[in-house]
Amino acid sequence: MRVLGIETTCDETGVAVVEDGWRILSNLVLSQVPLHERFGGVVPEVASRAHVEAITRLIERSVEEAGLRMPGPRAPGEAITPPVDAVAVAHRPGLVGSLLVGLTAAKALAWAWRLPLIGVDHVHAHVYASLLSPENEPLPAREEVFPAISLVVSGGHTSLYRSDDWTAHRILGRTIDDAVGEAFDKAAAILDLGYPGGPAVSRRAATGDRAAVAFPRTLLDPDSLDFSFSGIKTAVLYHVKGQNARRDAPARAGTSVEDVAASFEEAVVDVLVEKLRRALRREGLRRAIVGGGVAANRRLRERLEGLARDDGVEVRFPPLSLCTDNGAMVAGLGHQLLLSGPPSDLTLDVSCHATA
Ligand code: KG4
Ligand code: ZN
Repeated sequence: MRVLGIETTCDETGVAVVEDGWRILSNLVLSQVPLHERFGGVVPEVASRAHVEAITRLIERSVEEAGLRMPGPRAPGEAITPPVDAVAVAHRPGLVGSLLVGLTAAKALAWAWRLPLIGVDHVHAHVYASLLSPENEPLPAREEVFPAISLVVSGGHTSLYRSDDWTAHRILGRTIDDAVGEAFDKAAAILDLGYPGGPAVSRRAATGDRAAVAFPRTLLDPDSLDFSFSGIKTAVLYHVKGQNARRDAPARAGTSVEDVAASFEEAVVDVLVEKLRRALRREGLRRAIVGGGVAANRRLRERLEGLARDDGVEVRFPPLSLCTDNGAMVAGLGHQLLLSGPPSDLTLDVSCHATA
């Protein structure tokens, strides 16, 4: 079975064709970073307009790159020969205007091609990405993967789940303010490293002293699995620009960007590792799945490999190319959802909230 996956939750337009839930036949991602860069963050109206401009062509190109053919005009009464067997779309959570573009495109295709429509939770799809392989290898057996604790760390989300199946995720904790990727982006802005800042912070951190600045590790209650990253963002601001300084104040003389980046990254990674360890302990599990843009972070990967060694935990990461938003993870999870339950109908709506 081939599934077309559409991803327009934020600032990347992604369209992919995935066969049998794992074989990626095409996976196109059009990043809007150049459009949002000068604003220092995603501008929702700009994002939805850019999705509208890109989506049709991306769908056509994705189908063609998969070696399939877009159906041309039909004579009256002529049968439809759709290139895929179902259409999956990330319909939550995200920017409502952006989500609507993807959902409308998906509904139009599902209706015109008489195919099942499958609504996918974008955060769950990030978990699925770590089961896909860059070499296009088949999925591991379900019993080898689940049950597990899933940690999704991205620009919009920081969530811990207990995952019992490809499609069964129970929320254990989430951020009560900023997402971890957002914290990276804001730290990058304070350090004048451009947007999006995660990769830039990570690059500068590589040569910095991780113990140079004692940034706070916000762990909340001793047994809390929720996250909070707004405190560290303010701590970075005050450290770099002075107590109670405004964001546009100049950096204090002598600030080492490398040391601040390294100390910030270490503090954030400490929190992520500790919360994951807590969740594993609480659920009595020894398997973890990590997903989302920040799963590309080298230090996080190193430290989680340490957790794997020290605690005997098996940790899965997505291939680097599938950490950030893409249509392949949506198509893949859509495939599993279609196997495990009824499809969505054309009344499917968008939501800015993740599945509870
Ligand atoms: O998953 P994603 O594409 O979008 C959301 O669903 O939000 O994640 C994008 C986020 C951005 O905040 C970006 O700065 C961050 O992932 N990111 C990183 C790295 N690569 C991307 N953060 C830290 N280190 C990285 N190497
Ligand atoms: Zn995402």
